[in-house]
Amino acid sequence: MQPDLETEFLTLHEFVAAARQRLDAKGWDYIIGGTETETTLRRNRLALDAIALRPRVLRDVGAVDCSATLFGKPARLPLLLAPVGGLETCDPEGAVAAARGAGGFGVPVMVSSVTSHSKAEIRAASASPVLFQLYVRGGGRFIEDHVEEAIAAGLEAFCLTVDTAHYSRRERDIVRRFDKPWRAGVDDAASGPRRR
Ligand SMILES: Cc1cc2nc3c(=O)[nH]c(=O)nc-3n(C[C@H](O)[C@H](O)[C@H](O)COP(=O)(O)O)c2cc1C
Repeated sequence: MQPDLETEFLTLHEFVAAARQRLDAKGWDYIIGGTETETTLRRNRLALDAIALRPRVLRDVGAVDCSATLFGKPARLPLLLAPVGGLETCDPEGAVAAARGAGGFGVPVMVSSVTSHSKAEIRAASASPVLFQLYVRGGGRFIEDHVEEAIAAGLEAFCLTVDTAHYSRRERDIVRRFDKPWRAGVDDAASGPRRR
């Protein structure tokens, strides 16, 4: 039976605690980790924490509406789920589950190219917009195949990642000796050992 998210999770901390309980050490470190020694991750966290909301009181907040139109469809909030590769580490349904969650809530999802599910399967899981992100791991034909699949599946947008010619070096994963199943056989000699 599907858990009732509205009552099971009342705070963000509870989502985090439940995820940690569900995942093994390698999966947990992969999901919460960043690249290299995670300096940028810490900087990003600090930058976000530096944003403060100024409270304004005695205003009419009787009709607050945060909804927006994203990719031609109504969204409950002006945000979307960012692409996370290898979600099968967390749940066998991977990107399909993420799309279902995003669609159920009413926001778009951007699907990572690192998924074992087809674009059509992911499309079917959500009525909200589905965007596809592609890491360039091949030539023109490789890209065109993905674009054609995205069009055929009826996805709303296609994003080409241009700044990651090589898979990033993630020291947290190296320490765990986490051999990601989706990287099997793709680490080329030029990358050197354990560039995961
Ligand atoms: C475990 C993990 C996997 C990710 N996989 C991808 C990916 O496959 N494609 C992509 O474009 N971005 C990927 N990202 C980057 C995220 O989409 C996002 O841009 C980044 O985490 C910054 O957002 P945040 O500060 O909300 O975490 C990944 C991030 C994490 C933490």
